[in-house]
Amino acid sequence: MRIEFLGHSCFKVETGGKKLIVDPFISPNKLAAEIDVDSIEVDYILLTHGHEDHVADAEKIAKNNNATLISNFEIVSWYKNKGIEGHEMNHGGNWSFDFGDLKYVNAVHSSVLPDGTYGGNPGGFVLKSEGKTLYIAGDTALHMDMKLLPVNSGKIDLAILPMGDNFTMGVNDALIAADFIECDEIVACHFDTFGYIVIEDKDAAVKKFKAKGKNLTIPAVGQEINI
Ligand code: NI
Ligand code: MN
Repeated sequence: MRIEFLGHSCFKVETGGKKLIVDPFISPNKLAAEIDVDSIEVDYILLTHGHEDHVADAEKIAKNNNATLISNFEIVSWYKNKGIEGHEMNHGGNWSFDFGDLKYVNAVHSSVLPDGTYGGNPGGFVLKSEGKTLYIAGDTALHMDMKLLPVNSGKIDLAILPMGDNFTMGVNDALIAADFIECDEIVACHFDTFGYIVIEDKDAAVKKFKAKGKNLTIPAVGQEINI
């Protein structure tokens, strides 16, 4: 599984012979200015929730690629009204796609679509593909349901956790989350893009994880991670 950070909470994932993009927020993101949205080739678009900083480029990428959008029922319904193909899920549900097994899991946050339409409840994803398990938390607080993830899904090889604080978990709660999900390989997201979510001392954050035997990657835009 090849994972590339495209800024904020956006990741491109290549696995099972398919290309996925998660939470595309590229064209409004000054930190991702070098990425050309029109050059992105994907088969699927995964949206954790409806906020603008997760869906900004979803419609364009979907239409450029005739891609299939995967999210909760409310979000997929909204995009289907725009002529975009989609697969609706809801919390706790699993589906076997041609790239792997995907489960939509709980997040504690809020969710509204850019025009004010109700966006359902926010979520995250557990992706199982190529013998690996990836947890994409989405925007979320630390919550006790995270303890269910290794029970339900087995060993999590890599977890992408929001860490910018203010709107989501900060570094300290993300470290507790890493314990709850029993995962030692953590990638940060949802940091530095705009005010309130800057991780001021990245070295200190990495050291906090290291002290608990965990490897924290705070990725640069364009950085690749393989599992
Ligand atoms: Ni959000
Ligand atoms: Mn967000």
